[in-house]
Amino acid sequence: MNARAPWREERACAIVAEHRHLRGSLLPILHALQEEFGCIDQAAVPLLARELNLSRADVHGVVSFYHEFRRTRPGRHTVKVCRAEACQSMGCDDLVSHIERSLSVSLGGTTADDAFTVESVFCLGNCALSPAVMVDERLYGRVDARRIDAILGATLAAETAR
Ligand code: FES
Repeated sequence: MNARAPWREERACAIVAEHRHLRGSLLPILHALQEEFGCIDQAAVPLLARELNLSRADVHGVVSFYHEFRRTRPGRHTVKVCRAEACQSMGCDDLVSHIERSLSVSLGGTTADDAFTVESVFCLGNCALSPAVMVDERLYGRVDARRIDAILGATLAAETAR
């Protein structure tokens, strides 16, 4: 499940204070902020510029350069579908189409019920078992349409069991 705490400047400042001693502290701080809030809130850019003595453009440039930094809050679960070569050759495009159809969402988007954000990634290190998918932190191999339906159904079922 994704962390999605609401943005709180006070908490963000505490995260900055915990990491600012690190060399090249901007990246670890951005990772920590995303881990806490689920994304890099717009308010993080001026805050980091001020705290780290950088320009807003510098901070903004780093946030936009790295695709792993989200600008909007993700759904409760993230589905990462590998679209690199080995998974391509084993039909990941059909899998992506199936997911988009069945969840009514486009790659990069979040379902209307906020349950899933679907993203493409390039190699999950599971090429021998392609097509590969990662749901939250869990990696799956040889995923076809039927299997992804079962995985996503089980993910939602686990939520209600909590
Ligand atoms: S190419 Fe998909 S896991 Fe490596």
